[in-house]
Amino acid sequence: MSSFPRISLRPEVTDYLKNVFLNKEVLAAVGHQEAESRFQRLLTCLSHPPSYTCVRASTHLAPLEEIRQKLGEELKKQQMCTSSEKEVSVQILPHPRIPDVLLLPVDGPRPVEQLSSEVVVGAQCGSAVLRGANVFVPGILASPKFMKAGDVVSVFSDLEGRCTRGATSFQGMRGFVGNGVAQIDRSGIFCTDVAAKGVGVRMVEPLYQSPSFDGVLPNLAFLQNLPSVVVGHVLGPLPGERILDMCAAPGGKTCHIAALMRDQGEVVALEKIKNKIERIRQNAKMLQLNSVKVYCFNSTKAVSSNSAQEHEGPPFPAESFERVLLDAPCSGLGQRPSMSCTWSLKELCSYQPLQRKLFHAAVQLLKKGGVLVYSTCTVTLAENEEQVAWALETFPCLTLQPQEPHIGSEGMLGAGLSPEQLRLLQRFSPELTWDQTGAAAPLPYRADRDTIGFFIAKFLKK
Ligand SMILES: C[S@@+](CC[C@H](N)C(=O)[O-])C[C@H]1O[C@@H](n2cnc3c(N)ncnc32)[C@H](O)[C@@H]1O
Repeated sequence: MSSFPRISLRPEVTDYLKNVFLNKEVLAAVGHQEAESRFQRLLTCLSHPPSYTCVRASTHLAPLEEIRQKLGEELKKQQMCTSSEKEVSVQILPHPRIPDVLLLPVDGPRPVEQLSSEVVVGAQCGSAVLRGANVFVPGILASPKFMKAGDVVSVFSDLEGRCTRGATSFQGMRGFVGNGVAQIDRSGIFCTDVAAKGVGVRMVEPLYQSPSFDGVLPNLAFLQNLPSVVVGHVLGPLPGERILDMCAAPGGKTCHIAALMRDQGEVVALEKIKNKIERIRQNAKMLQLNSVKVYCFNSTKAVSSNSAQEHEGPPFPAESFERVLLDAPCSGLGQRPSMSCTWSLKELCSYQPLQRKLFHAAVQLLKKGGVLVYSTCTVTLAENEEQVAWALETFPCLTLQPQEPHIGSEGMLGAGLSPEQLRLLQRFSPELTWDQTGAAAPLPYRADRDTIGFFIAKFLKK
């Protein structure tokens, strides 16, 4: 199953993570050998993409089966254009428990021969290619000296961020992601005053083959990781409610919440970074959701000292929302595929205090009897279970709630939470079943296990 190296991390970060996964509570429960083996599997699976693509279907606009059929037809048309075979088949399965999820298998790693002409791309671009994307020009770091549009090239990901932009070759740590056809001459990439855009290399033999969703039913089929879709359902928004999404860009969960409410009520989306705001608006418009109100605002300051609201937007008086989603900024170590993370330990540990500030605001803004969902796409205890332990101690008004659906595993040992509390948490832990969830396992079985690393906690405010 392993086709390229494990995720590359700084030694201090590897040591830190090892201490997390081999903490005293885990060692006492499963023993050293199993804990070590889980940790090693984690490092391996993080660099590999999940074995399927997850699509959130816009069931507020059309029934799931209709979307499934339309998607099948579109993807077949697309494959007929690129494949030499007369009959092409596209497998699309509904998720057995989540009513707006469609699953499509990913084929890989496939045996692809490496060529002598090499293009090197940034690690983020390389990860996108492993999930079915083409190479866009801004992602290209190095190309052969005389590369012309039409040349067939092998594409490599620069794992440690060491390749100089404009280089003609690169021999540092790199990972092969497949072969493609250059769409642009080298001079058009590096020797121009105007930054070039668009596809730079069209992937024809990717290591992992998954359907390209570029322009395919954009209003009906939204690409989203399965645990992120679960978050919307766990929050459980109801039509007519007023909901706050505190950290919203690019708006995947915001739009899901509005769709679950049948666009009735109000979803307030806050995002601190100005140039990410437009993306949330575009997504809401594309999915025909008018109940989403987007504001550029620092959510740590979203609580107003005035109890009466004089204006529409933030800051808001305390107890303004029926439900609050805190999909927190985090170290993102659960993202897959990620061939490398160059962060220092200091950077990795910088999120816990920010998450706590946001949590303070979230609790204040929530009405009594309201629901708060906290989620991250990382695997550390500090940003997940430790935050839950801290929240329960700091806010006696909060109690942990069961989650529906609960398709991941329970919370991880190590933060002093009781077995009952851990059972109420939902941690997506691909390392637990990695190597047992190969392509041979049925897709619905794989879907809940072979995910990105993710964490969800649901609280009720008494
Ligand atoms: C994990 S991402 C959110 C993803 C989003 N919920 C989705 O599903 O599409 C976290 C976001 O929080 C934003 N952010 C970070 N600090 C913030 C703050 N103090 N206030 C509001 N947004 C913040 C980041 O810019 C980032 O876009």
